[in-house]
Amino acid sequence: MTLREKFKEFFGEQADAIYSASGRVNLIGEHVDYCGGKVLPASLSLKCRVAVRKNGTNLMRIGATTIDKRAEIDLNHTENYKDLSWGAYQAGVADELKKAGYNLVGCDILYDCTVPFGSGLSSSAAIEVATAYALAKLGGNKIDKVELAVLSQRAENNYCGVNCGIMDQFASANGKKNNAVLLDCATLDYKHIPLDLKNYVLVLSNCNKPHNLRESKYNERRFEVETALKILQEGRLKVENLAQVKPWELEPFKDKLGEVVYRRAKHVTTECLRVEESVKALKTGDLDKFGELLYQSHYSLKNDYEVTGKELDALVEGAEKQSCCIGSRMTGAGFGGCTVSLVEKDMADEFIKKVGEYYRTKIGYEASFYVAEIDDGIIDEEIMMNKYITELVDYAEKYLSLSSRDKVYTINRVMDILGVYDYKREECRDVPELPDGILQGIFSCLEEKGVDFDHATLGEKLMDAVMLKPSEYERIFAEKYAVSAKTATDWANAYAIHSDYVKKSAIDKNICFSADNGLEITINLSKPEKNNKDLQKQLKLVSTSYPKCIICRENEGYQKIGFSRRNMRTVSLNLFGEDWFMQYSPYAYFNEHCIAISQKHTPMVVDEKTPELLFDFVDKFPHYFIGNNAALPRVGGSILMHNHFQGGFTVLPMQKVGYKKLLVSEKYTSIKVGVLDWYNTAIR
Ligand code: GLA
Repeated sequence: MTLREKFKEFFGEQADAIYSASGRVNLIGEHVDYCGGKVLPASLSLKCRVAVRKNGTNLMRIGATTIDKRAEIDLNHTENYKDLSWGAYQAGVADELKKAGYNLVGCDILYDCTVPFGSGLSSSAAIEVATAYALAKLGGNKIDKVELAVLSQRAENNYCGVNCGIMDQFASANGKKNNAVLLDCATLDYKHIPLDLKNYVLVLSNCNKPHNLRESKYNERRFEVETALKILQEGRLKVENLAQVKPWELEPFKDKLGEVVYRRAKHVTTECLRVEESVKALKTGDLDKFGELLYQSHYSLKNDYEVTGKELDALVEGAEKQSCCIGSRMTGAGFGGCTVSLVEKDMADEFIKKVGEYYRTKIGYEASFYVAEIDDGIIDEEIMMNKYITELVDYAEKYLSLSSRDKVYTINRVMDILGVYDYKREECRDVPELPDGILQGIFSCLEEKGVDFDHATLGEKLMDAVMLKPSEYERIFAEKYAVSAKTATDWANAYAIHSDYVKKSAIDKNICFSADNGLEITINLSKPEKNNKDLQKQLKLVSTSYPKCIICRENEGYQKIGFSRRNMRTVSLNLFGEDWFMQYSPYAYFNEHCIAISQKHTPMVVDEKTPELLFDFVDKFPHYFIGNNAALPRVGGSILMHNHFQGGFTVLPMQKVGYKKLLVSEKYTSIKVGVLDWYNTAIR
């Protein structure tokens, strides 16, 4: 059931909009936000989504999908709800918005939160930010994302009695996909820092410790560091906050501060240096260094700040024992919640298993684990569709030779396909190398709206809309060919992959074995299963239907249910005076698997002309091999009614073996021909 459907069920009316705010993981810079330090959090794909509508009353009526809770808040008396067991965050946000002069209107809001409660991943900040955004929007106010964070924090401070800093709300609102947010908490200046983790992932481990004294301990630490600052300032250290103090400047104040407060201040001052170093390490791609800083941060939080506890310590100890892990630390307020660990991607499952076992043995109950995905902060999901459209067209400009002159026209075509009629260019994120993620995003937006569609068909339609017309494609191929044959095929093969015609992500999952005897076996997981009945049906259609068969050139752009070549592009070839064309195979068995096909729908045949056609092909593309199947009926194999060859940029095992018997050709005297020493009959 989509969130819109749930909303309808809950409130009996259609939702007007859906917004989502993120949970966050803090990478480093812990317990320094309220000391004016810099922090480095990132927003997660774990979200608090809200479906909303104006209800024409003075009430804010709220409910949830994941827990059986509801509440009603009178917007004229927002100050009265501090004791609500569920709903106080929302009331607090309404209260702060009102105090800040925002216009509020009665509304229904349904919360759908995937940030685990009490996990230290800021489910409360996500609820606050989503609420603040929804209230501001519904009331017709403009609000920027920094203000959104500030008002949400105020709600938590003033209304809920937690003296938290700005970090969580800020990350929840201002995060950016695959980036961390470097936030200066003294000035609220911030920068996005690209998070290129190479072959590492961030694993979040939740210690599942039952709720405890987190809030009171948190407020106690704040009091301790405020005390430290006061003592330093009274001792004439010219600083405005503790984050400006260097660790060595604490030494002369050691006695005055006292043992405990000294250690608290030591954590803050050393942690601030670790943030600076972490940013440098991330910028230079030095992940080992970054990992080391994560460990150091944990031990400082354990020994000096004393906010870890045996559960979080056990998770970090367990992580340290795994060679695939290069850094780990508690994240968030501590006293429970999560750790974040930097783990080799391929070893993440193993890591989770091992650390899970260690934790269970040591603590007596289970931890839970998530591989973190870093996503955008607050999002208006309607605008998301705009963003994906922008991304798709920017992607096409980068990878599919779409000219900037055609961009607006292409956006309009895409909108038409999607049934979207309003567009505003949203800031585009860095475009990915393959379109899968963009298409997936578009699909999710449509699903959320309850639109019924076939993923594969829509994906192809969209790709086709942003691709070159065949003539333009062929013109660029010819330009590249003038440089060299390889330049041209490099471009065409990449084009086929980027246009999602060659299913690269699926092909990458194929399983390949090579045996000592030279045979290679590929289990092609990318190719949809064909059964003989279907194939027979297709064969029967041949003489009557258009196109005459599934490899005829008329398939370029052709579409029908269950079979489509919308995003196929082909190149004309002249082989030995005949009109042929070439395309890439969508479900490639080997590198740059291409097919050369006669433009005429004539049956497969092996005769005297065959070698001439083959030789002409390799003269034109000397880096490719070419070959043809025997013209023998084998259901499921070759298409016999249409002459074609298979080629590619690879050396097949069959090309490496010797001859059983050489043949003498009177016609081709300069060519060595023989029967191969192979597992079935083959001539090379
Ligand atoms: C909690 C608070 C934040 C921050 C962290 C510790 O998450 O909400 O403001 O102080 O703890 O870094």
